[in-house]
Amino acid sequence: MRQAVLFALALLVPAGARAQDVANGREAYAACAACHELTPASTTAGPSLLGVAGRRAGSLQDFRYSRAMAASGIVWTAETLDAYLADPPNALPGNRMAFSGIQDAALRRDIVAYLLTLR
Ligand code: HEC
Repeated sequence: MRQAVLFALALLVPAGARAQDVANGREAYAACAACHELTPASTTAGPSLLGVAGRRAGSLQDFRYSRAMAASGIVWTAETLDAYLADPPNALPGNRMAFSGIQDAALRRDIVAYLLTLR
């Protein structure tokens, strides 16, 4: 039983991330929740983040992105999410996310670990 639970957790948690990181990240996601749904539809100020891992930036059909985001050519991975969330205005000039970023690298890593589980 315990093994089955551990196996299920291992499937959920991306390589390199610990379950604790993901739990921290889920809590810290409160800073994003007002603008980002975790359901398929984008009904708030920002695009849904369900399935963001591996997605091309600016590619949801039901959200009107800035030109900067839509034309960025970014694919969302642990690395690109980390770079964007560190400093959104400067990482991608012209993007419309009204969020100053997460300076704390450890917290950013945890949020990214959580985002990568949102499939
Ligand atoms: C004030 C609202 C707001 C907050 C808070 C916010 N975002 Fe955003 N976010 C947006 C908007 C609007 C966009 C679209 C930007 C564009 O098109 O230029 C966006 C875009 C994104 C994208 C690109 C998604 C895609 O489909 O390409 C990611 C990833 C993202 N945000 C993550 C986050 C995370 C993680 C947080 C919290 C740490 C956060 N955002 C906080 C409004 C917000």
